[in-house]
Amino acid sequence: MKTLLLALFSLFLINLAIGQISYSIPEEMPKGSLVGNIAHDLGLNTKRFISGKAKIHTRNSLEYVKLNRERGLLFVKEKIDREALCTEVTVCSLDFQIILENPIEFYTVTVQITDVNDNAPTFEKSEMNFKISESATPGVEFVLERAEDNDVGINGVQKYELKPSDNFALKLHNNPNDKKNVEMVLQKPLDRETEEQINLVLTAIDGGDPQMSGTMLIVITVLDANDNAPRFTQKTYKAALTENSPIGTVVATVTASDADQGSYGKITYSITSTQANVKKIFEIKEENGEVSLIGNIDFEKNKLIEIIIGATDDGGLTDSCKLIIEVQDINDNKPEISIMSKSNVISEDAVVNTVVTVINIEDNDSGENGKVKCFFTENMPFVLKMSANNFYSLVTDNELDRETYSEYNITVICSDEGVPSLSSSVTLTLQISDVNDNTPVFERSSYEAYIVENNTPGVSIFTVKATDNDWNQNARVSYILEDSSVNGVPVSSYVSVSADSGVIHAVRSFDYEQIKDFHFRVRAQDGGSPPLSSNVTVKILIQDQNDNPPQVLYPVQTGGSMVAEMVPRSADVGYLVTKVVAVDVDSGQNAWLSYKLQKASYRALFEVGLQIGEIRTIRQVTDKDAVKQRLTVIVEDNGQPSRSATVIVNVAVADSFPEVLSEFTDFPHNKEYNDNLTFYLVLALAVVSFLFITCLVVIISVKIYRWRQSRILYHSSLPVIPYYPPRYSDTLGTGTLPHVYNYEVCRTTDSRKSDCKFGGAGSQNMLIMDPSTTGTMQRLNKNYPSGQRAALSFSYRHC
Ligand SMILES: *[C@@H]1O[C@H](CO)[C@@H](O)[C@H](O)[C@H]1NC(C)=O
Ligand SMILES: *[C@@H]1O[C@H](CO)[C@@H](O)[C@H](O)[C@H]1NC(C)=O
Ligand SMILES: *[C@@H]1O[C@H](CO)[C@@H](O)[C@H](O)[C@H]1NC(C)=O
Repeated sequence: MKTLLLALFSLFLINLAIGQISYSIPEEMPKGSLVGNIAHDLGLNTKRFISGKAKIHTRNSLEYVKLNRERGLLFVKEKIDREALCTEVTVCSLDFQIILENPIEFYTVTVQITDVNDNAPTFEKSEMNFKISESATPGVEFVLERAEDNDVGINGVQKYELKPSDNFALKLHNNPNDKKNVEMVLQKPLDRETEEQINLVLTAIDGGDPQMSGTMLIVITVLDANDNAPRFTQKTYKAALTENSPIGTVVATVTASDADQGSYGKITYSITSTQANVKKIFEIKEENGEVSLIGNIDFEKNKLIEIIIGATDDGGLTDSCKLIIEVQDINDNKPEISIMSKSNVISEDAVVNTVVTVINIEDNDSGENGKVKCFFTENMPFVLKMSANNFYSLVTDNELDRETYSEYNITVICSDEGVPSLSSSVTLTLQISDVNDNTPVFERSSYEAYIVENNTPGVSIFTVKATDNDWNQNARVSYILEDSSVNGVPVSSYVSVSADSGVIHAVRSFDYEQIKDFHFRVRAQDGGSPPLSSNVTVKILIQDQNDNPPQVLYPVQTGGSMVAEMVPRSADVGYLVTKVVAVDVDSGQNAWLSYKLQKASYRALFEVGLQIGEIRTIRQVTDKDAVKQRLTVIVEDNGQPSRSATVIVNVAVADSFPEVLSEFTDFPHNKEYNDNLTFYLVLALAVVSFLFITCLVVIISVKIYRWRQSRILYHSSLPVIPYYPPRYSDTLGTGTLPHVYNYEVCRTTDSRKSDCKFGGAGSQNMLIMDPSTTGTMQRLNKNYPSGQRAALSFSYRHC
C-alpha cells in the first residue's frame, strides 16, 4: 500500500519536475523506503547518474534522504519525524539539490513531509483543581488548559469533551488552533450539600485516523455558601406546663439543623414572639434551644401560650417554629363572691320565698377547680337557691319573727371542688324589721291596789305596766281608762290613768266609810297602725284610816245632866255599876275599842273592863266612900295613832234615891239652880222614859219581825258575805285575836249580875274574829242603826 501511495506521488511529481522536482512522503517512513525515482523524474538515465557522479547536497549536514545512483532512486536514509523537523510549521519539506558533474547539472528536489497522526493530544497537567463556591451563578466561565498535539492539521486536536456534563458545558472557540484556552461554563448551580467534590474528565480528541485523545482530570471542590437556612425538626412543638411552676422549669427543647458548614451551620436560637409578656416569662438558651420558665405562669391569664422561636445561622438565614404551651390549671384561685343585690332589712311578715340577696360566684380556675358550691351552716329560716350561671339567691323558707331573732348573720361559704378545695365566705347581716304583730301584755292578769282613805286628790295609787314585744312605735304602749261607772258615777271621777306611764292617780279623796272598793278596766294600746290593745281589770281597795274617834253612846253626855249610877252600899265586890258603850265607825283595829279609867274619885273602888267597858266595884263599899263618885273613862281605839273619847260617869254610892239627891244637891252649884235642875231632870226622865217605852215597843216589834225573817234566812243557809278589812292583814300580820268575841247585850231589866253573858250563837249582834283565817274579820249586821244603840244604852239603865 505504501508503495502504491509512493507511486502515486511519484507520478504526480514527475510532471512538476521540469524546473524542480518535488516529492511528498509521510513522516516516519522506515529507513530505506523509496522516496522517488529521481533519475526518471529528471529525464535522465541512470548512466548519467553514474557518470555525473550524482550526489545530494544539503545545507545542513543532516541527511534524511540518500540517493542510489545506480538505480536513480531516492530512499529514506533517516526516519523523518515531521514534528522534530518542522515542529509547528504546517508545510514541512526537505529541500536539497542533486548535483551532477560532467556537465554539472543542478536540480532542486523538495521532499514534502506529510504529517502522520502519531501524536495524541496531551495536557500539560494531568489534573486541574478548581474551588468553586456553590453560590456561583450559572454562566460563570472557567478557563481550562488546552491540550497539545504535535500533529498538525487534521491530526491536531480537533475537539474536547467534558464528562460528566451535569453542571458544566464546554465553550470552544471557533478556531481550534487559536491559542485561547478552552472554557468551562457553569450551567447548573452547584450544591455542596449534595456533592462536595466533582471530578470531571476533559478529553481532547484529534482528527487523525485512528483518532487519538488525551484526558485531564478536573477536580472541582464545591465551596460552601450559606445557601441553607436552618430547619427546625418540627414546625410546631407542643408542651404542657402546670401553672405556678417554679422558675427555671425546662418547658421544651426545640432543635433546628443547618446543612451548611461551619459558621453557616451554627444555629442561634431566640424567641421572636412579638408578645412582650412571652419574653418576660420564657427564655431560650441560644445554643441549644432549651426553653425554660423565668416568670410566673398563670392559667387564668394564658391557657395556651404560643411562642415563636427563631433559629439563625451566622450567615443570617433563619427559620422559625411555633412552641405551643398548654398551661394546666391547678386550684390556685379561691371562689370570688360578689353580692349582686342585697336587702339589709326585711320585714318580719315577709312571705316565704322572698329573695333577700343574690350573690354571684366566680372561680377563675377551670374544670373541677372552678366548680363552686355554696352553703351556710347555721340553722336559719333561709335557703340558698342556685340559679343559672353561678348565681345564688338567698330566700326565706320559713316565717320570720323579729321578736325571736331581730338580726341574722348569715355566713355563706363557697368552696370549689379542687383538691385541696379552696373556699371563701361572706357574712350577710340581715335586720328583721318590725310589724305590729304583738299586743301589749299586762304584767299581771288583774291588779289589786290599796289606797288609804283620806288621800290627797291626785296622789298616785299604783302603776300598771304592759309590755309589747314589738319595736319602737309598735311597742309604745299608751294606757287608757275604760269608761265604766262606780255607784253610778263615771269612774273617771275616781281615778285617772297617765297615758304614758300607766300611773293611776286618785282624782278625789276616798272615804272608806263611803266606799270600800271599786274596780275598772285599763286598756293598753300600742302605737302601731292599726294599733293593738288589751285590757286589764284593776281593783282598788280603800283602806281604813283611824279618822273617826270612838263615840260614846252610853252614858249619854249632856251638858248639865246629873245622871248618876246608883251603887248600894251593900254592893258586893264585882258589882256591875254600869257599862260604857262606845262605837267607832272605823273598822278593824281602828274600831277596836278599849276602856280605861283615867281618874277615879276614889281610887280603889271601881275598875273598868278593858275591852267590854263594864264598870264594877272591886271592894266593899265603906262608909268612908263618898256618895258622889266621878269616874272618867277613856275610850280608845286601836288605830295608829289612836283616837279616844272621854266619858264622865257619875256614880252615887247610896242606898236610897233621896240620899243621892241630897248628896247631889250639895254639888257646888247654887240651890236654885239645883232645884231647877232636879225639876228638869225629873221632867226629862219622864219624857225620856215615855219616849223610850214607845221606842222600845216599836223596836221590839220590828226586831221580832226581823228576827223571824232572819230565821228564815238562816235556815235557808244563805252565804254570809265576807268582809276582809285590808288593814288587818297589814297591822296584825300573823297576830291573831285569841278569842272569839261573841258579844251580846241583854235587854232584860232585872238581872243585875248576869245580864251580860258571853256566847250565844245565832245572836244578831255579833262581832266574830275568826283566828283560823288570818286577818279576816267577819262582821255581821254592820249597819248597826244608831237608834238601836241609843235604845241599848237605855236598857242598861234598867239592868
Ligand atoms: C378572675 O379573673 C378576672 C378577669 O378574668 C379578674 O378580674 C379577677 O380579679 C380574677 N379573680 C381572682 C380572684 O383572681
Ligand atoms: C352579727 O355580727 C355583728 C358584727 O359582726 C354583731 O355585732 C352582731 O351581734 C351579730 N349578730 C348576731 C345575731 O349574731
Ligand atoms: C277586755 O279584754 C277581754 C279579754 O281579756 C275582752 O274580751 C274584752 O272585749 C276587752 N274589753 C274591751 C273593752 O276591749
